Amino acid sequence: MVEQKDLQEYRVWDRSIRWFHWINVLTVLALIAIGVVIFNSKALGITDDGKVLLKTWHVYIGYVFAVNLGWRLIWGFVGNRFSRWNAILPFGAQYREHKKAFFSNLKQGKSVGFQGHNPLARWMVMALLLLLTVQAVTGLVLAGTDIYKPPFGQQFKAWVAESPETMDQVKPYSEVGIDKDAYKEMRDFRSPFKTIHELNFFVLLGLIVLHLLGVIVTELRERNGLISAMFTGRKVFRDKPLDKD
Ligand code: HEM
Repeated sequence: MVEQKDLQEYRVWDRSIRWFHWINVLTVLALIAIGVVIFNSKALGITDDGKVLLKTWHVYIGYVFAVNLGWRLIWGFVGNRFSRWNAILPFGAQYREHKKAFFSNLKQGKSVGFQGHNPLARWMVMALLLLLTVQAVTGLVLAGTDIYKPPFGQQFKAWVAESPETMDQVKPYSEVGIDKDAYKEMRDFRSPFKTIHELNFFVLLGLIVLHLLGVIVTELRERNGLISAMFTGRKVFRDKPLDKD
């Protein structure tokens, strides 16, 4: 039986990472909820005004999500040792060394503690950040093509307007002031962004489920306070973790 006195606390996640994580969870949940309604809007009989409202809220929450994500990507260069890209991405000599130790221990039925991410978690974090970035970029383009919101809304308005004078008349789901050919061209340009936003959404859902399973299984196997560390910033270990310097 492991007693409290045998355990030592190690600082892992800095404040920035913890804020990023929980803002990301909340915004992604809200974006999924509204996104699913938008996706089923025809079946649900939602009016055009209703769609504009849903998309507007989706985009506003999307801005918070995108800025938070952008901050995390920058934090990968300036954050603490465990937030940095070389501790996240599954490449490099240190990663290979950790992978070897992780799998050889796993084969013997033992587990080796990691203060930061274990080698499998590195793949998951890389995939999650990549898919979230794809979702943010495609979403920001769609926000411009669909409801003419920043950052590209003005450019798309200029593209579809009959003339510079009718630009102000261009509104979502309205044909007033629109050049029909230009509008069709713009919609063709938009189409792959929408397809990627939609397909990436389903892949992201699958990864989120795997991420949750991975966290729960690791916590049950290792009992290092992996989940509470996202609140407190600290994990606990009996033996020195492998990536402690
Ligand atoms: C993890 C983040 C996100 C998730 C899970 C998500 C999910 C979704 C889903 C499921 C749809 C419905 C797709 C369809 O009807 O085919 C959608 C549509 C949309 N999303 Fe997102 N989204 C995310 C981020 C963003 C961001 C950051 C923005 C922009 C700031 C954005 C802007 C839009 C727009 C404008 C639409 C409407 C496209 C259309 O149906 O015409 N999304 N999103």
